[in-house]
Amino acid sequence: MRKNALTVIFLLVLSLGFSQNEKAEIDQKIDSILELLSVEEKIAMCHAQSKFSTPGVARLGIPEVWMSDGPHGVRGEINWDNWGYANWTNDSITAFPALTCLAATFNPVLSKNYGISVGEEARYRKKDVLLGPGVNIYRTPMNGRNFEYMGEDPFLASVMVVPYIHGVQENGVAACLKHYALNNQEIWRSHINVKVSDRALNEIYLPAFKAAVLEGDVWSVMGAYNKFRGQHTTHHEFLTNKILKSDWNFDGVVISDWGSAHDTKESALYGLDMEMGTGTDGLTSSIKNAYDRYYLAYPFLEMIKKGEIKEEVLDDKVRRILRLMFRTTMNKERGFGRANNKEHLLVAREVASEGIVLLKNNHSFFPIDADKKITIAVIGENATRKMTPGGGSSELKAKNEISPLQGLRERYTNATIIHALGYASGPPAYGRVIPSELDAAVLQQEALEAAKKADIVLFFGGLNKNHHQDCEGGDRLEFGLPFGQDALLEAILEVNENVGVVLVSGNAVAMPWLSKVKALMQGWYLGSEAGHALADVISGDVNPSGKLPFSFPAKLTDNAAHHFGEISYPGDGIDQEYKEDILVGYRWHDTQKVKPLFAFGHGLSYSSFDITEVSADKKIYPSEAIIKISCTVSNRGDMEGAEVIQVYVGKSKSSVHRATKELKGFKKVVIQKGSTETVEISIPVANLAFYDETISDWNLELGTYEIYVGNASDNISKKLKVTIK
Ligand code: BGC
Repeated sequence: MRKNALTVIFLLVLSLGFSQNEKAEIDQKIDSILELLSVEEKIAMCHAQSKFSTPGVARLGIPEVWMSDGPHGVRGEINWDNWGYANWTNDSITAFPALTCLAATFNPVLSKNYGISVGEEARYRKKDVLLGPGVNIYRTPMNGRNFEYMGEDPFLASVMVVPYIHGVQENGVAACLKHYALNNQEIWRSHINVKVSDRALNEIYLPAFKAAVLEGDVWSVMGAYNKFRGQHTTHHEFLTNKILKSDWNFDGVVISDWGSAHDTKESALYGLDMEMGTGTDGLTSSIKNAYDRYYLAYPFLEMIKKGEIKEEVLDDKVRRILRLMFRTTMNKERGFGRANNKEHLLVAREVASEGIVLLKNNHSFFPIDADKKITIAVIGENATRKMTPGGGSSELKAKNEISPLQGLRERYTNATIIHALGYASGPPAYGRVIPSELDAAVLQQEALEAAKKADIVLFFGGLNKNHHQDCEGGDRLEFGLPFGQDALLEAILEVNENVGVVLVSGNAVAMPWLSKVKALMQGWYLGSEAGHALADVISGDVNPSGKLPFSFPAKLTDNAAHHFGEISYPGDGIDQEYKEDILVGYRWHDTQKVKPLFAFGHGLSYSSFDITEVSADKKIYPSEAIIKISCTVSNRGDMEGAEVIQVYVGKSKSSVHRATKELKGFKKVVIQKGSTETVEISIPVANLAFYDETISDWNLELGTYEIYVGNASDNISKKLKVTIK
């Protein structure tokens, strides 16, 4: 069997945090604790006692496990038995940028800092498990939860997720990787049955999970709501038992998504260790012993007592749970955490400003000089709207959230800033839409008045965290901008041509007005420091260096999942088939020659960079070698900036259908103005293997490969050829 690179790396690296000796010691302790526990006590540890906790064993001093969402900050306290907020006054926190923004930084060092910081906040808030990060692949722009994930490329998501996990877990807080697996849409998420090939599963949908387990040494994994090949993914013979626990040797805890367990025997036998959120009758009214009705509670106990399930099945779960406890709540070495400190705000701001992507910039519209005495009309609801409330389980109670308008007002003290809402949506509400009561015509009129008076219009639009926008529990209903923004923009453009757009969203949108606006920035959901980070980039205090972690199709049917019609997305209500197979995102655009509006990896800078002298260290490589690609990058602009060198690999002559090219390496480099840096990127040859369904394993084909080096998937400076022999 050929091993791919992740496996190779895993063999080289000892598990982080604990040495093999310490691990063996912990395993011994676990065995001795196990002997002291009654079956009932063990059962109790396998399911919730409240919305976000599981019981310990009080008589032995074994602590409870406390969890919180995740993934871009620690959620406010929820009631014991229902979804209402507990209204504590000490649970506001730092909101970090959503994970799409983190992915857009293409900067694993920032991901580590992000993980450390959010982990410290979780620790301070006395949480043992942080429910994140999420690495479901961006398959369709309609998915309401894309903003919580790391984009469309498995390699990028893999590289970015590992340091996040290391950072969180350094605090003695477990990351909980979610949602395993194939939860790539919200519509019908609790029952849709995904049909996807083994190849696409292994090449596209699993790599980030695999990296998180093998390289990130993640301590817990959350099952997903959906089905795969007829079985619910939370208790899945193939995904959980075979791949996660056997092939990848995962020794942590599989936690259900909230309410994703459906059957006692399947939960017991197919890998679920801890059941959370199951909606038993009367749970919300706190009837006595409601949690005992969980699949992994009394029904499980009964099956064990009747001999239908062996006690060793339960013991394996409890071993894992105790291991999680030794890593977290029973880990005497862990620190105390901290929250709302200036260092965390700094990390949030840095991630935000590095993740903002400059998509278009005609005639150097951006940066806007902060010394000038100009009038800027800031128009659009997203200039003032808080984006930490709403969105579902990732909702946050931020101690502070600087709005874009506030950030601009603080930075542009010489300018006159006028503001108009322009359009309005209603407040966020889970699972329902509450329309705005404001008069759209009046709002538009006010916006046009403001635009007429201004030298520059900055339009802050996009989506928000309302139901059917970027929000859990439902997908988007339209690819275009909601709340009448297209018409509003067209009207603004009639009265003022000098318009720059900042799109606040976690998803691609249609942009019929694109050719008419001067500039466009992708502003994501940026958290506590949103306004400061946007002002940093708009003013040029920070030179933009973010790159798109997913493609923006020109129209919805240009996206691969949508190209194949309803059975591919959203499915027929029962099944859905991933007909595009491995051709997700830019793999589709490239291979099918469907030009995207903005390509994966695209992102402009206020500087311009030349990539030259691209070379590989050899022409021929054996299969266990490492290909070293080097190039020089020159900053031709007049300010310091960072560029992301991206290396894609393709194999045009292959025994299987391949994407034209796939990202296999990248590096972000900061370059002083007028300077040149040499960049080297290493690619293990093993990573060029494809998943061969005929042998159910990775297969490294010999022969010629094409290597593409550039600064975007659609902007390649040089193509090389190498041979694997
Ligand atoms: C979400 C999870 C979340 C959990 C707890 C579920 O609805 O899918 O991502 O962690 O709720 O809030």
